[in-house]
Amino acid sequence: MLIIAHRGASAEAPENTLTAIGRAIDAQADGIEIDIYQVDGEIFVFHDRYLERLTAHPGRLQDLTAGQIRTLKVFGQQPVPTLEEVLTFINGQCMLNIEIKGEVDPDKLCHMLDLALNRYHFQQPQLIVSSFNHHWLKHMKSQCPWLQLGALSANCMLDYAAFATALNAYSVHACVDFVNQQLVDDAHQRGMPIYVYTVDQAQDIEWLKKMGVDGIFTNHPQYARNVLSGLPVSQNEMLWHH
Ligand code: G3P
Ligand code: CA
Repeated sequence: MLIIAHRGASAEAPENTLTAIGRAIDAQADGIEIDIYQVDGEIFVFHDRYLERLTAHPGRLQDLTAGQIRTLKVFGQQPVPTLEEVLTFINGQCMLNIEIKGEVDPDKLCHMLDLALNRYHFQQPQLIVSSFNHHWLKHMKSQCPWLQLGALSANCMLDYAAFATALNAYSVHACVDFVNQQLVDDAHQRGMPIYVYTVDQAQDIEWLKKMGVDGIFTNHPQYARNVLSGLPVSQNEMLWHH
């Protein structure tokens, strides 16, 4: 089962920052998931529409200039990286799942993906672009036909993973609250792996593994690795919560 660090190793360092990504690489995560918005012509790695929770600033991310975003500190500590800074930093060392949170210019994102391949040592199978907005994904695929799409869902639909087939997706990304054996089996019958978010509890990790889930998004990749390796773990290992 793949271990994908959710917003980097975000239980250990401020989410979606180079520090959290570095911790995930140190933990030998198979992949890293990040969230992106395009603001003022630049693609930034950040989860929330509003600034308050992560930076204690009022207002929306999209109302700032790129220069203002560069002065922000996530949890008072780490700068908000650009997508290109993340690509430079990871440099093909593991898989990268880019989740589109706000509308981006598909040409701009395709250009970044080309840089990932041609300058930052990624291979095509290491890159997945996902979103809850399947229209954006469809558009990305039309611009960039080689791209692997991750079809995100917060539901368990009546026709299970049919939405992912309709999108010509590579993988199904399902919510831990609603995943079940039928959804896992349906994704597999359709030829797609299924990755589940957000999974931090040993009981859930073991349950999903038994169900045949192919990967988990976790805030604590080292903890998940220990659970999957059968090492003794305690909840005290969940170090850094906010
Ligand atoms: O990509 C899986 C997961 O990250 C989606 O939810 O809110 O954590 O971005 P969220
Ligand atoms: Ca996300």
